[in-house]
Amino acid sequence: MRTQYCGQVNASHVDQVVELYGWVHRRRDHGGVIFIDLRDREGVVQVVYDPDRPQVFALAEHVRNEYVLRIKGKVRARPEGSVNSDLSTGEIEILGLELEVLNASETPPFQLDEHEKASEEVRLRYRYIDLRRPEMLEKIRMRAAVTRALRNFLDDNGFLDIETPMLTKATPEGARDYLVPSRTHPGKFFALPQSPQLFKQLLMMSGMDRYYQVVRCFRDEDLRADRQPEFTQLDIETSFMNEDELMTMMEEMIRRVVKQVLGDDLPDPFPRMTHAEAMRRFGSDRPDLRCPLELIDVGDLMKAVEFKVFSGPANAADGRVVALKLPRGCELTRKEIDGYTSFVGIYGAKGLAYIKVNEPAKGREGLQSPILKFLPDEVVQAIIERTAPQDGDLIFFGADKATVVNEAIGALRVKLGEERGLMETGWRPLWVVDFPMFERDEQGDRWAALHHPFTAPKVEHQALLESDPGACLSRAYDMVLNGTELGGGSIRIHRTELQEQVFRLLGIGEEEAQEKFGFLLSALKYGCPPHGGLAFGLDRLVMLLAGASSIREVMAFPKTQTAACMLTSAPSEVSPAQLRELSIRIRKPQNEAAAES
Ligand code: AMO
Ligand code: AMP
Repeated sequence: MRTQYCGQVNASHVDQVVELYGWVHRRRDHGGVIFIDLRDREGVVQVVYDPDRPQVFALAEHVRNEYVLRIKGKVRARPEGSVNSDLSTGEIEILGLELEVLNASETPPFQLDEHEKASEEVRLRYRYIDLRRPEMLEKIRMRAAVTRALRNFLDDNGFLDIETPMLTKATPEGARDYLVPSRTHPGKFFALPQSPQLFKQLLMMSGMDRYYQVVRCFRDEDLRADRQPEFTQLDIETSFMNEDELMTMMEEMIRRVVKQVLGDDLPDPFPRMTHAEAMRRFGSDRPDLRCPLELIDVGDLMKAVEFKVFSGPANAADGRVVALKLPRGCELTRKEIDGYTSFVGIYGAKGLAYIKVNEPAKGREGLQSPILKFLPDEVVQAIIERTAPQDGDLIFFGADKATVVNEAIGALRVKLGEERGLMETGWRPLWVVDFPMFERDEQGDRWAALHHPFTAPKVEHQALLESDPGACLSRAYDMVLNGTELGGGSIRIHRTELQEQVFRLLGIGEEEAQEKFGFLLSALKYGCPPHGGLAFGLDRLVMLLAGASSIREVMAFPKTQTAACMLTSAPSEVSPAQLRELSIRIRKPQNEAAAES
């Protein structure tokens, strides 16, 4: 029986005999003495075998990295000079008395302390080895702590933990569905939930009042560092609460969790900002407030300039022209500016004009820029007045469709903040509110729900649903932390007529509405309480708290950027018999089929 974890042996155990189980982290031969660093979940301890006990010594000589051992030994203080203050067990070592090899290990594909040398692909394929690294373990442990703290808060506040189906019908959250063929209903498919949205609304109609679930969601969408095809939400729904009450409760929860897990204090209350202001000042609906740079509109100054790059968007209804002032930006080299120009290109920007402001007091003479020749004096003067640069600042310009400018210059703002050392430290949470109900879909010919079709319009905006849907604001809110959208939700529509009206606006005909959401429309008729909620991305929350750069780092078994699992080689082909049973015939993509024939 284990007496303690390896990492928990300390000076208080000196002279005691301990029994430990763990992995060989490192084995060193030191002139007749063998040192084994034995590792488990809680840390590493040094075990010493000397030749006085020839039998165990011989065994110790044979162990290699990652062998699994049971050892028994006597704890002793380390000799003066060999104390290791980096290690929790650094004051002691264990004189090995027994050693049992519970299992050998082949040479691992990478050494734990040299994991940087291995590609991410190899580390994902051997995830069970990568997870042995203390930094990885620490993140998984933090994830458990965060989940526990969240659950405690919700339990304290009367929320019921309720499970909802995984095999279900499509849930519209804007991504593609993962489908599961039904054997018993040939030609029919379940969809894995993109979120439990409709079930949690139904639970409110059932009178559950306060629901939560730590739940897996599935979305077949383009992946990024903060997106995975399957991810975990902390999903929440309540009845009879308005958005202010909900936001207050939810930020209290996040404050408490951050305090418990990291000991850090978040502001009380969180600041709130309208969607319109966030887009105007930061070009983003999830602004990173740690960056002090802001977008400054200059379209009104550019309407009459001969430089078409600026005057075009300045005069277009969907155009935007902004300036972004970078303090001490004159230090940037040509190469660095070219680098930023390529960066905004990723977001579709066609260029990145700039003015170096050497000495603004000198007017045009104090400036340096390839575009100055296109701009009349009064425009140059007005730009200087509006952006108020200091000597040595640089002003970038973005001009295009507003969507492109917002994305490109919004991203540039954060990149400059990071690379030029402008980011403040600490936590900058924010609620973004007053989202529009609708946006134009990608083709621009239809309305699409900005959040989802069950989000209620602001009460005073309901009339706009008929007259001017684009101007209608919703009762949705997003919680943003340091530039990451942590969670979002809304007060829902709880009346049939309004829900039908919104479906109509979204181009969902009566028949389609019945087919897809008939159960919801029906449930709305039988005593539906006013309700609302939100969902947090648990992976994203843990990523932020753990200081990780990707949610893959805080998931035990994540998928790659191409939505595959390196470890199990999923997705994979299935047998013809299985397909037959499911009444499925595979039609391979043409190039693949051609390659095989
Ligand atoms: P939404 O789609 O905004 O809302 O999702 C809520 C939160 O889930 C996280 N998230 C993701 N995390 C990792 N990988 C992904 N692919 C991914 N997609 C989303 C984000 C996001 O803020 N049913 C609504 C919530 C509601 O209205 O109550 C919903 O799912 O952190
Ligand atoms: P051009 O006339 O295309 O040589 O561009 C002159 C300057 O304007 C260059 O510095 C370009 O990077 C910049 N530029 C071009 N298109 C845009 C744009 N859409 N937004 C901002 N700057 C641009």
